[in-house]
Amino acid sequence: VSAEFVNRDQADAWDGDEGRHWADNARRYNDAVAAYDEPLLAAARIQPGDAVLDVGCGCGFTTRAAARVASAGHALGVDLSTPMLRVAAALAADEGITNVDFARADAQVEPFALVDVVISRFGAMFFADLGAAFANLGRALRPGGRLAVVGWTDLDRNEWLTAVRESLAAGRDLPAPPVGAPGPFGLGDPDRTRAWLAAAGFRAITIDEARRPFRLGADADDAFGFMAATLPVRGLLEGLAEDARPAALEQLRAMIRAHEAPAGVHLGSSAYVIAAIKA
Ligand SMILES: C[S@@+](CC[C@H](N)C(=O)[O-])C[C@H]1O[C@@H](n2cnc3c(N)ncnc32)[C@H](O)[C@@H]1O
Repeated sequence: VSAEFVNRDQADAWDGDEGRHWADNARRYNDAVAAYDEPLLAAARIQPGDAVLDVGCGCGFTTRAAARVASAGHALGVDLSTPMLRVAAALAADEGITNVDFARADAQVEPFALVDVVISRFGAMFFADLGAAFANLGRALRPGGRLAVVGWTDLDRNEWLTAVRESLAAGRDLPAPPVGAPGPFGLGDPDRTRAWLAAAGFRAITIDEARRPFRLGADADDAFGFMAATLPVRGLLEGLAEDARPAALEQLRAMIRAHEAPAGVHLGSSAYVIAAIKA
């Protein structure tokens, strides 16, 4: 466990209310982005004997998937969130996976033991200093080791975020999260990502866009109930006058209903699959 945490705001959020909501709704949050596991794991090319590090592992779905592939090796999931790590360990025990461990650490500064593969599913874009963080992940990889991470591209290509924001804007001009800076779009500028990786000693850097459905729920009622309780939605509502909130929620419900289909409620999403080899 790390002695040092430099990502204090992230630690406060993920070790607090945000992390608790994710831990309480672990499977739903996983279902939302599980369609990205296939391109992530394809890029990681995990071998049976590999040691794998999963950065920002959350409730550990990708860590456990990696451990299943590294059947004669090992997977370590690290995250800032105590409640999410607790769920991750409990699910591993339920599933009888023994070659997996979870630890609370700030991946930007933790002095990791050497591994063969570093993976991250939407957990490597919040670092306060993205360049320093990738340098640290580079130090964690043996020469020839592989990095594979996925992160959102930009706001315009991510309907799961634009549609929710538009539904709840209620006439407000909401500030867009920056691209290529800490946050959901921290890995959204391929030029910057390439520069950080090259400076961190990576070669054979590839950045490919993947578009996958983002799952909100099994049907409109299910999706609305979940979405209305998420912290970003609650935050957008709290910024509105109290008498404007019911109409905004109705907009959200209507948007969700418009995306309902027999297979569930899905919105469009787009992420970069970033792969590189440690020189
Ligand atoms: C969007 S969630 C993704 C969780 C998980 N990878 C998944 O796909 O379900 C982002 C995660 O990154 C973690 N995180 C953010 N900054 C971190 C840091 N500096 N070190 C370790 N984990 C971090 C958060 O605690 C959170 O669990």
